[in-house]
Amino acid sequence: MRTHLCGELRASHQAETVTLCGWVEHLRDHGGVIFLDLRDYSGRIQVVSDPQRTPESYPLAQDLKAESVIQVVGQISLRPAGSENPRLPTGEVELYADQLILLNPARPLPFAVSGEHDSVREELRLHYRYLDLRGDQLQHNLRLRHRVVRAMRTFLEEQAGFLEVETPILTRSTPEGARDYLVPSRVNAGQWYALPQSPQLFKQLLMVAGCDRYYQIARCFRDEDLRADRQPEFTQLDMEMSFLDREAILNLNEALVCHIFRTVKGIDLPQPFPRLSYAEAMDRYGSDRPDTRFGLELVNVSDLMAGSGFRVFQDAVATGGLVKVLPIPGGNERISNVRIKPGGDLFRVVSEAGGKGLAYIRVRENGDLDTIGAIKDNLSPEQKAQLLARTQAQPGDLLLFGAGPAGLVNKCLDRLRLTLGHELGLIDPHALALLWVVDFPLFEWNPEAGRLEALHHPFTSPHPDDLGNLKEARALAYDLVWNGIEIGGGSLRNYRRDVQEQIFSLIGLASEEAQSQFGFLLEALEYGAPPHGGIAYGLDRLVMLLAGEGSIRDVMAFPKTQQARCLLTDAPAEVDPRQLKELQVRSTHSPSQQ
Ligand code: AMO
Repeated sequence: MRTHLCGELRASHQAETVTLCGWVEHLRDHGGVIFLDLRDYSGRIQVVSDPQRTPESYPLAQDLKAESVIQVVGQISLRPAGSENPRLPTGEVELYADQLILLNPARPLPFAVSGEHDSVREELRLHYRYLDLRGDQLQHNLRLRHRVVRAMRTFLEEQAGFLEVETPILTRSTPEGARDYLVPSRVNAGQWYALPQSPQLFKQLLMVAGCDRYYQIARCFRDEDLRADRQPEFTQLDMEMSFLDREAILNLNEALVCHIFRTVKGIDLPQPFPRLSYAEAMDRYGSDRPDTRFGLELVNVSDLMAGSGFRVFQDAVATGGLVKVLPIPGGNERISNVRIKPGGDLFRVVSEAGGKGLAYIRVRENGDLDTIGAIKDNLSPEQKAQLLARTQAQPGDLLLFGAGPAGLVNKCLDRLRLTLGHELGLIDPHALALLWVVDFPLFEWNPEAGRLEALHHPFTSPHPDDLGNLKEARALAYDLVWNGIEIGGGSLRNYRRDVQEQIFSLIGLASEEAQSQFGFLLEALEYGAPPHGGIAYGLDRLVMLLAGEGSIRDVMAFPKTQQARCLLTDAPAEVDPRQLKELQVRSTHSPSQQ
């Protein structure tokens, strides 16, 4: 139906007769001459129709509506001198429409396809997602995503010997910490499949199967609270490798990430990527996915404050907690007391993170410390001097304090640090801060359940130096963090049955339970399982960052809303009662209970 794409025509095509197809954009009538831009995925070209030169197409061109689909036949000519459009790659030429066929007219549109869609209500964009996707921004993002996946495949298959294998979608629960999506089985009434939260167990079995290096662009399903970087179904680049130690796995993955950046963005990332232990990341940033594009590092002053005489600080330390400081250079001038005190926005950041208060000290020009009475009055001159030395505070600086249980203090100060980093303009939007966070704890304590839980998942191998005390062991786990967003995570695995069983028992899985849930894995580990490890990248998050977008919805073709709904197809939806009967499933839902 066409000889060329709209965006490929140049002055060198002058006098060629071409046939183009595409969508009508920017229709305008200049004194009886119709101009329009014809658009396809490759770009736009100006099409002209007038009663003298193109009498056949003119009546049709006059009636065209935006976004109608047309076919145009005509000769490429140079635009008259002075009317070239330097912003368009095809801006030197135009096409006089000798023939024009209306392939399909478009109705009036709910929003303009060309131009920015940011001001359009998101519900409308998602309902008419195909129009949203037709616009430049999302077309660009979809194509970028495609190039990222292609770069992944090229590297993994052509440079690193990986094999692509598909794993089941109808499967058993895979514990990644979220709720499962369940699917009832008709032929096994009363039994349910779970959609995979990740292909974790299958990829390990593929290592036992001798596949050596596996990858998959894998769809994962997690029923969890949604955010800008979380969707109920999302895509991972999932990988697993045999006979590689942690160092080798990290090196191979750095090479992969560098290949993606080089191919897609033309950027050579500096190597090796920095590595930070979990303990150091928590200490310096209060987060296991620190945004290291800016400083504002936290300072632990627990020892100093243990004997400060200020009750809140003393009690925090005495009960095993922390006192940490977030020093804000020049903060006195830029941050008022109103913002820090109850009712203020910074106080709110802390209280939304679960914190009860936000203590502060201002370092005055003469070196005096100024604050709400209690802290200052209780500090000895040496303690004051030490506080200034530790925090490297200068006159004019503001010190914000967190005191309490370690997790809470870190969470509050992390949120404050990010808020102020953005507000004070400390973040270079072009900076690329990639780093590995390693040596996570193997377990974390779940106070509600009253037991240990695997921090990543229970298949992660403990650090060999910590086998003597598994409860407090570090894990051979690693996360890749980019500008404060976790884009990937993985670990070495337990490839021996005895170690895996020990881990199950530490997280409170009785051996019968472990056998009934993971018996197939435990059995496989006895039939010659090689040492292995792997990683999974959140493809959506990676592409979001590469595209410079703020939400993974902008790099997925058909994303869901915050309520996990697809507004285009209106899913989820009720089903025919006969289907439920066949499945032997009855709903206990009653609308009044909502
Ligand atoms: P993990 O649970 O850390 O590891 O997931 C890997 C990566 O997937 C991305 N991700 C998500 N992206 C969008 N929406 C979500 N709801 C979502 N949840 C996770 C993140 C994350 O880093 N099986 C292990 C990997 C392994 O051990 O090899 C796993 O799934 O970018």
